Amino acid sequence: VQWKSDQIVIALLALTLLSACAEKPDPPRALGGADAGHGLILVRTHGCAACHQIPGVDWPRGQVGGPLRGFADRGLIAGRLPNQPDTLVAWLRDPPALSPQTAMPASGLSSAEARDVAAFLYTLDER
Ligand code: HEC
Repeated sequence: VQWKSDQIVIALLALTLLSACAEKPDPPRALGGADAGHGLILVRTHGCAACHQIPGVDWPRGQVGGPLRGFADRGLIAGRLPNQPDTLVAWLRDPPALSPQTAMPASGLSSAEARDVAAFLYTLDER
């Protein structure tokens, strides 16, 4: 088979895209001392479900921010930021500080509270 150079380029591009999609963040993403159970309580009391469907929260089931099931398996936060504990904690406290165009408002969570919420979010895999 004689491959033309543009066919080879397309094949390489496809391979690169495939491996990028298969790439997962390095688990486990431990947040030392954080309490995922308390994180779920904070998620319930801070209105996160007004904008997100969240496993463990029956109501409301907001549509603005997209479902958070499977968040632990995502490589990026909001498609832009590395899904790592420090970045996630900062995001949960003040998203516009990291991404000025975002529609997600600052939460008012303390840094300890945001760590608990982050620990909870990292329990949300695809199951
Ligand atoms: C007013 C609506 C709103 C509220 C309230 C809200 N969010 Fe969001 N959230 C959004 C939007 C919109 C996005 C998408 C941000 C973007 O793409 O810039 C988002 C993105 C996220 C992401 C990234 C999701 C992903 O798949 O990358 C997480 C995690 C998240 N929110 C968690 C929370 C938590 C936890 C709370 C409660 C403390 C909360 N959100 C409250 C609207 C909201």
